[in-house]
Amino acid sequence: MELPRTPSLRLDGRRALVTGAGRGIGLACAAALAQAGAHVVLAARTTSEIDEVAGSIRRDGGTAESITLDITDINAATDAIAGLEAFDILVNNAGTNRPVTFLDVTVEDFDYVVGLNLRAAFFVAQTVARRMVESGKRGSIINVSSDMGLVGGPNRTVYCSTKHGMEGMTKAMAIDLGPHGVRVNTICPTFIETPLARRFLANEAVRSWVLGRIKLGRIGQVEDLMGAVVFLASDASSLMTGSAMVVDGGWAAD
Ligand SMILES: NC(=O)c1ccc[n+]([C@@H]2O[C@H](COP(=O)([O-])OP(=O)(O)OC[C@H]3O[C@@H](n4cnc5c(N)ncnc54)[C@H](OP(=O)(O)O)[C@@H]3O)[C@@H](O)[C@H]2O)c1
Repeated sequence: MELPRTPSLRLDGRRALVTGAGRGIGLACAAALAQAGAHVVLAARTTSEIDEVAGSIRRDGGTAESITLDITDINAATDAIAGLEAFDILVNNAGTNRPVTFLDVTVEDFDYVVGLNLRAAFFVAQTVARRMVESGKRGSIINVSSDMGLVGGPNRTVYCSTKHGMEGMTKAMAIDLGPHGVRVNTICPTFIETPLARRFLANEAVRSWVLGRIKLGRIGQVEDLMGAVVFLASDASSLMTGSAMVVDGGWAAD
């Protein structure tokens, strides 16, 4: 008998855009996609960081280029992205957090976090999706959400608003883009040791709260997300859209 074959996890010949690729989770996603054969375009505001990552990917045998973008400058960023050759893969990753209790959230904090995590992510995805549809690419959009997109957390009303919003946006995008063959999913990581999270984890009370919630008893590392991003980008997940891939060590299990 002819056995069914596992669909390929290779991404040779595909083009990927990764926002926030200068450090942390975005850097690891860019490396993972390049190691799977994709040509990766790295976007962030700090040119020196994305240039360094692109150089390391090339030295490692991959292909990569960088583009300096502030994605909260919606018109400039979307014009720049629309001017590039269409992408097969988007990792919509740039995001931030300003943890503060609900009673103390300012309008400035709210606008800053929503402006990046939701507003900018929405229009980056729209621009990339338009080009995918125009060029007939059956692409994969991966929105980097959080376990805080599934549950609440202390000092995280604004962050949870953005990540729950991203979960809803993903499901609704999947409905609109499904007929075009474009898939949209989220990755929901727990706390991952990155420059952003290290700032919070330096606080012993936060670290022990986090370790108490992660059933596997350890903080995540960026490597924990690399298989998930390649899977969602590849043909191995070709019937998956409107879903969340939860990589949270069991945080949201109870
Ligand atoms: N780390 C965690 O524990 C964790 C857990 C769950 C979800 N997440 C999510 O994962 C994503 C990445 O987090 P991270 O921890 O890797 O963050 P990070 O270490 O702070 O890195 C963020 C990246 O985004 C870029 N960025 C920030 N503002 C930008 C802007 N306006 N335009 C373009 N790029 C911008 C940064 O570069 P520049 O500053 O140079 O622009 C940097 O490359 C976020 O969406 C976050 O919510 C993180």
